[in-house]
Parts: sequence; C-alpha cells; structure tokens
Amino acid sequence: MDTKICFELKSQVSHIEPYKAVSQKAWKVCSDREVMKLDWNESPFPIPDRVKHRLVSFIYNNPLNWYPPLDGFGLNRDLLELFAPTLTLDNIELFSGSDATLESLVRAFCPPGSNVVLLYPSYDNFRVYVEIERGNVMPYIPSNIFSPGNEIDDFIEFALDHDPSIVYLINPNNPIGYFLEDSDLVKVIEALPQTLIVVDEAYIEFSSRPAGSWELLERYPNLAICRTFSKALGLAGFRIGYVLANEKIITALRKVKNPKSVSTLSITAAKAAIESLDEISLNIEQIKQTRQYLIKQLNTFSEIRAYTSEGNFVLVNTEEQIIEQIRYEFEINNIYTRDLSHIQGMNGFFRITVGTRRSAERIIAILRQVLR
Ligand SMILES: Cc1ncc(COP(=O)(O)O)c(C=O)c1O
Repeated sequence: MDTKICFELKSQVSHIEPYKAVSQKAWKVCSDREVMKLDWNESPFPIPDRVKHRLVSFIYNNPLNWYPPLDGFGLNRDLLELFAPTLTLDNIELFSGSDATLESLVRAFCPPGSNVVLLYPSYDNFRVYVEIERGNVMPYIPSNIFSPGNEIDDFIEFALDHDPSIVYLINPNNPIGYFLEDSDLVKVIEALPQTLIVVDEAYIEFSSRPAGSWELLERYPNLAICRTFSKALGLAGFRIGYVLANEKIITALRKVKNPKSVSTLSITAAKAAIESLDEISLNIEQIKQTRQYLIKQLNTFSEIRAYTSEGNFVLVNTEEQIIEQIRYEFEINNIYTRDLSHIQGMNGFFRITVGTRRSAERIIAILRQVLR
C-alpha cells in the first residue's frame, strides 16, 4: 500500500530562498594533498596535534554515551579569561557555531513582522533565519560597498527610518573585507538604544584589531558579539562558537537555546584549541602575510582587481567571461573558490579564502596561464 505523506509548509518557509552552500566537490578529492578548498573561509591548516591527541584520549576515557556537560567543562570561564577578562559567566553562552548563535538571537529578538537592518552585502545565512521568523530583512546598500564607514550616518538614518528589532553588522565584513572602527559601531549602538545590535566577529582574529569590540559591552546593554572557532581557530568541522552580551540578552538566549546542542567532542576540541594558541597564532600570522602576497600578485593582472581585506579571504572582481575560464582552470586543478555572482550587484565577483603560501603561488601560476 502506498503511504502518502501530506505536509504543508508554513507560508513563510515556502517562500524562503535557501542559503546557497558551496559545491561539495572538494570532499570527493579530500585525500589528495593538492586539493585547495578556498570557498568557505575555512583554515587551511590541520588541527593542532594537541587537539587530536586530546580528542582520541577523551574518546577512550570518557562517556560519549552521555549527553554533553552543560557547564562546557569550564570552557566559558577559559574563554572569558583569554578574550574578555572583565566579563562574567552571565555574559557568555556557547552555541554550535555562529550560525546557531545567529539563529537563536533572531528567534529571541525578532518578533514576526519586525524589521531587521543589515549593511549590504552580508552573510546570507542570517537572512534565512530572519525570514523563518517572519522578520523583514532591510538591507542598506551603501553607495560605496567597499568602505561604508564613510556613510555610517546615512546607514543610521536608514535604520532609524525602519525602527528595527535587530541591526546586523559583520566586522570585518564578509564578503568585502572592510573593517568598521569602534567609533562607527558606537554611533550605531547609541543611535538605536532600543535595538539589538549584533556584531558578528567571525573573522576578527585576522583584522587589525584582533581583540575585537567586547569592551563596548561594559557600556552598552543592546550589543551582542558573536565569535566562532570555525575560522582562525580552525575547528569548522566541530561547529562551536559563543556569544558575548549583556546578562539580559544571555538570559533570553538560554530560553530559546537547546542546552545540550553543543557536542562533548566540540567542547573538548575547543578547550584543547585554546591551549594551542601559540601554534594557532603562528597560523594566523602566516595567513595575514599570504593575504598581502595574494592581493599584491592578483593586482599585477590588468584583467583582475583584488580588494584589501581584514579577513582570511580576498574579494576579486573581473569580467564575467573571464570568471568562467578561471573557474574551469581552478576546478581541473582541484582549487575551489566562492563565486559570488548570485549576490545582487556582484556579477563578476568571486572570493578566494587565503590558504597557505603554496596555495597562493599555485593560484597565481594558474592565472598566469589563463590570462597570458
Ligand atoms: C560572517 C559569518 N558569520 C558566521 C559564519 C558561520 O560561522 P560558524 O561556522 O561558526 O557557524 C560565517 C561562515 O562563513 C560567516 O562568514
């Protein structure tokens, strides 16, 4: 007998344009040492040996048949000590990646029908969370998308006109790579005291101010800062991140978050990673140097423009036909980059995650063949 499953999507869900994930072809060739996965801003470095050993030992000696420890084995305390020493345990909460943090922030603070303002272009997954909650995404499109810091007053005016429940900023911005100074953030935070200002610091460690803006939390109760282990700390596969915010925001987040959602192994890996910060800092330094090399080399091609970046990625612009050629050559060499042409106004743009120096050299060598 045929079983017929009847289901009806909530109307807001049926209209959602899903977040466009990257191609998964790299996984098919991941045992090839030459594969270069430069499409999702992951770290090019393997996880530190200390993290590997800790995980193996943990698996043999601890109960993975139990749900995760709700105190995160003290990870929150360690994070505060290292990255936000004047904050307390009431100002931090772990999530299974910044994606989960953003989802919970939207669930808790975006009532249906309210407006959510963001600086365009932005991280598109966030849009999806807002639409699920029936919020209205209101993008402010700067006249110069590369340095919106010059028009922060116009952005604020736009936000005030829309009376938003949330303003979402990414600092440094993905995919452009610019950095907003604290003075700009403060202007936004002060102009909208009834609005939750979310600052997503996924790439902060690669910026000129790696400590980020957490000190603003001492003055502003309407600010939430999202951090992740996925980028500089190299744990994208584990799915772990945290939010720093005023205790009222954290209390609200604890109501909507599933307390057992961060896995035991992710917590174990994160604890070992922050004990390996010496090694990780060297990796970050290498990425920053390679970023400079890559931008400089890319800009030697007259057909290409590469933009300065404070993240672990470089935004590149060229003609659409040339992109096709470049992508073809990259893919047959197992190099995967992020095409951004699905983003409105970004035809001809693609983004290269900064990998190792060797990967940057290969990219330039291939471009020399394509563009000669
Ligand atoms: C701006 C931004 N926020 C959040 C994320 C997702 O972070 P996580 O892996 O911690 O969920 C990304 C991933 O690319 C991102 O670019």
